[in-house]
Amino acid sequence: MIIEPKLILVTGGTGFIGSHTVVELLQAGHEVLVVDDLSNSRIEVLDAIAQISGKRPLFEQVDITDREALDGVFKKFHGQIEGVIHFAAKKAVGESVQFPLMYYRVNVGGTVNLLECMAGHGVESIVFSSSCTVYGQPDVIPVNESAPRKDAESPYGNTKRICEDVLRDASASSSLMVVALRYFNPIGAHASALIGELPLGTPNNLVPYITQTGIGKREQLTVHGNDYPTPDGTCIRDYIHVVDLAKAHIRALGRLLDRQQKATYEVFNIGTGSGSTVLEVIRTFEKVSGRSLNYRIGPRRAGDITQVYADTVYSNAELGWKAGLGLEEALRSAWAWEQHCQTLGL
Ligand code: UFG
Repeated sequence: MIIEPKLILVTGGTGFIGSHTVVELLQAGHEVLVVDDLSNSRIEVLDAIAQISGKRPLFEQVDITDREALDGVFKKFHGQIEGVIHFAAKKAVGESVQFPLMYYRVNVGGTVNLLECMAGHGVESIVFSSSCTVYGQPDVIPVNESAPRKDAESPYGNTKRICEDVLRDASASSSLMVVALRYFNPIGAHASALIGELPLGTPNNLVPYITQTGIGKREQLTVHGNDYPTPDGTCIRDYIHVVDLAKAHIRALGRLLDRQQKATYEVFNIGTGSGSTVLEVIRTFEKVSGRSLNYRIGPRRAGDITQVYADTVYSNAELGWKAGLGLEEALRSAWAWEQHCQTLGL
């Protein structure tokens, strides 16, 4: 009798955070099955993952909102999937305001589909990509996991909050076990510079905008407001290196597979625990790249919160995980990745 290997199913496994997590999973000795519709990523990411880790994940090009196709994947690998890490989602805040129903369909509908497929095939463990966006502007900073969730500023933010509730309720009524990770601001790239963040069109987020301006793809960065009540007037965020973030998923998955959980639904903050202003990020980029950045101060961006960074005491203690890489390393790796993209013509 052939014993089939156990698999970790990773939805969105060719995306930014997904690809880095697949590398860490493979390096930790897991067999990985990636499910991705390639709507916001490139198939070549699988080659890069194989080049880094020396192993190639299995791959199924499936849209998680296609229930039949997704169930087909669970059927094909029935009995082999021991856990799921669920990244597949849409993530552009502005786009979600324009197309809210698409966000609810993909992010919420896709998650429900996935949970029903899991239930139908006896898969009980899931790590979910949540976001610090659920805290809004917290009353106490650093913010810990027991802080109240605030009304979402966007449909995107609301989908994260709703998915958390869906997962909590599903775990309360079944054998489902959930770890939801609330990411702060993921940035950076793998040290190999073979995988990284590849925004479609004009980036919304600060770091890709900075690196694209640094390399000349964009003319000028606009700093969205310098009249906030912070030391230099610009907003504060907790920028976490994507490789540290990926490693947190390995710990979360291990907690589920080893039945170490204290409750069937658990939530952890995944950040560094310290905040940086927009101007600090710009200065650090200039230092690591040796280039001066063309930027101007513009008006505030609607919906931006003044400051947020993580209280990581609970996640550090419970997951046995701590961010090890700082802002300089993150920006250096993001810059190396941007330069690699230029050589590939991306
Ligand atoms: N910023 C600029 N100029 C830019 C882009 C960003 O000054 O061109 C500033 C923003 O105003 C903000 C900071 O850089 O002060 C970080 O902005 P990002 O867009 O990179 O990140 P956000 O904190 O706004 O958003 C991130 C994720 C969202 C998530 C949110 C939760 O991208 O998915 O955190 O707080 F919803």
